[in-house]
Amino acid sequence: MGPTRSSSSSRGEICLPLQVDFTTEKFEIRSQKRKVTTEELKCLDEFSKEGEEFMEGFDEGNVSTSLRFIDPLWKLKRFLNIGSQARLKKSIDTIDKFVYRLITTKRKELAKEQNTAVRDDILSRFLVESEKDPEKMNDKYLRDIILSFMIAGKDTTAASLSWFLYMLCKNPLVQEKIVQEIRDVTSSHERTTDVTGFVESIDEEALDQMQYLHAALSETLRLYPAVPVDTRCAENDDVLPDGYRVKRGDNVYYISYAMGRMSYIWGQDAEEFKPERWLKDGVFQPESPFKFISFHAGPRICLGKDFAYRQMKIVSMALLHFFRFKMADEKRNVSYKRMLTLHIEGGLHLHAIPRTST
Ligand code: HEM
Repeated sequence: MGPTRSSSSSRGEICLPLQVDFTTEKFEIRSQKRKVTTEELKCLDEFSKEGEEFMEGFDEGNVSTSLRFIDPLWKLKRFLNIGSQARLKKSIDTIDKFVYRLITTKRKELAKEQNTAVRDDILSRFLVESEKDPEKMNDKYLRDIILSFMIAGKDTTAASLSWFLYMLCKNPLVQEKIVQEIRDVTSSHERTTDVTGFVESIDEEALDQMQYLHAALSETLRLYPAVPVDTRCAENDDVLPDGYRVKRGDNVYYISYAMGRMSYIWGQDAEEFKPERWLKDGVFQPESPFKFISFHAGPRICLGKDFAYRQMKIVSMALLHFFRFKMADEKRNVSYKRMLTLHIEGGLHLHAIPRTST
């Protein structure tokens, strides 16, 4: 995480102002890239012009695509190449250019390098596989795989971490309970400044023991599901469980954002942030995915669910052990941005106060 500048607050605390939505996404891509390709994506470390354009194009593409859900004129705009659909076309061109370059570079790297470690990441594996069926597994196919992984794994986890920090600022007691759980589970001294040693102490066992953190993350995802609306198209005429008839070709939407807040699903306190609702005697109690719909349910349930929890747990443990977070401006109205994934409008502005100084 890269704080932009530091300052001292009136109480003598050192505050690191952070624009979290942005920085956590940068973090997210960094870890994501290891799965997609081992090549250094310059945009992430050095903010190359090309990389920045890619990130902007990726987000703009997300916004303009989501407008198709609500804009009855989108086809006309696409035909005339104006407004949101002209922006989408430009974004797609930028994204394609970047991803195709990545594939070409990786292919050259693989041809040169016989070292099998280079073939360890997902893109390399798909490239090796594509040699068996180059017609079907062409560059367009590989591009779609890369982008699917990015949209599935990057935006979702990063946005969820932002909402999670927001919830912790609004619920400081929950924040302190998690910090206590981290100390209990890792047996780390509360005043340690050894970041590397601390992060190394987060092993499988420690992650499994973080039951309260797991509950707080689930509670965040219930109220702020990273995929707020999901849709399916009926392949055949069908009847839904409540008797409603759908015709072949009908689009059916469910709104996870609303479902997470419905009192007849979650009880009268549905609007409240209560990690305790997920716990029995301190142990996390999973809910049916058809009730806790944030990862979707059924045969096409999110494949990265466990991975996402692990990532979010590791990052939040490292952050919360060393920093106390509070809103940079308590009065600021935090709202969401209309995109396919649920982001905080304008990012989340926080103060991170080192715990060693409190
Ligand atoms: C908080 C984090 C995450 C949330 C809330 C989330 C949510 C979802 C949802 C709602 C779907 C269903 C989308 C649809 O079919 O319309 C989905 C699918 C999927 N997710 Fe995630 N996801 C998260 C993280 C991840 C990560 C980190 C990965 C991979 C590294 C991942 C990989 C996938 C894949 C591959 C699918 C498609 C599964 C299929 O269609 O069979 N997700 N996710």
